[in-house]
Amino acid sequence: MTQLSSNVSNEKITIAVLGGTGAEGSGLALRWARAGHRVILGSRSPDRAVARVAELNAALGREAIEWASNREAAIAADTVVLTVPYTAQTATVEEVRDCLDGKILIDATVPLMPPKVNRVQLPAAGSAVAAIQDLLGDGVRVVSAFQNVSAHHLKDLEHELDCDVLVCGNDVEARTRVIGLIKDLGLRGIHAGPICNSAAAEALTSILISINMAYKIPGAGLRITGLPE
Ligand SMILES: NC(=O)c1ccc[n+]([C@@H]2O[C@H](COP(=O)([O-])OP(=O)(O)OC[C@H]3O[C@@H](n4cnc5c(N)ncnc54)[C@H](OP(=O)(O)O)[C@@H]3O)[C@@H](O)[C@H]2O)c1
Repeated sequence: MTQLSSNVSNEKITIAVLGGTGAEGSGLALRWARAGHRVILGSRSPDRAVARVAELNAALGREAIEWASNREAAIAADTVVLTVPYTAQTATVEEVRDCLDGKILIDATVPLMPPKVNRVQLPAAGSAVAAIQDLLGDGVRVVSAFQNVSAHHLKDLEHELDCDVLVCGNDVEARTRVIGLIKDLGLRGIHAGPICNSAAAEALTSILISINMAYKIPGAGLRITGLPE
């Protein structure tokens, strides 16, 4: 199952978004493709992938985004982004883990426990994303990001994103690279410490969902103050 091209720019990287047919992944894919990166949506379903790619390319006005299976997308990518529900996180990583060596894995997972998604309910071990770093070992640099960025605003290219992105990971160089990719989306990424700190970003999502419910808004976000320009 594939629809990959070999047309890779020298300046831009290839980004695979696993679960990229979903709300969060498709918004990230759209904005990275607009910035000129080669973007491949990973999916279990060719039908869903074809439909989503057609919709995103129509929004971009060009055939910029490709699709493949999650495995093929991970193999082709320089950087892999995980945007699947918490219940599918470990299984999806296991499916691609032998394609990740030496790469950065950006994990957006929030361990939400429906139906009470407005309550902080972290896994017993702490952070869902730190657990993936433990699973993969040092050969893969896992970076946690996007837990607090609402899919609602990502998909609207006309909407200027009004929030910061907390970026956690044990490798500072990997975090810095991810902050560069976040800038390409039109957002500001902030060094937020080692991967264990992802627990705080994961927990904050339930706070933001509570704020959305209380104020009847689609996508509350976070801003960090006091930083130099
Ligand atoms: N939505 C948001 O505003 C938001 C904000 C911040 C962080 N997040 C986090 O980002 C992740 C994705 O969120 P989302 O709202 O985009 O989720 P989603 O739309 O429910 O799912 C994303 C994609 O994951 C794949 N998927 C679903 N169930 C799966 C399974 N059992 N096994 C393997 N793949 C499966 C599906 O792709 P295929 O069927 O095409 O394979 C689906 O399109 C979650 O961890 C979420 O907590 C979301």
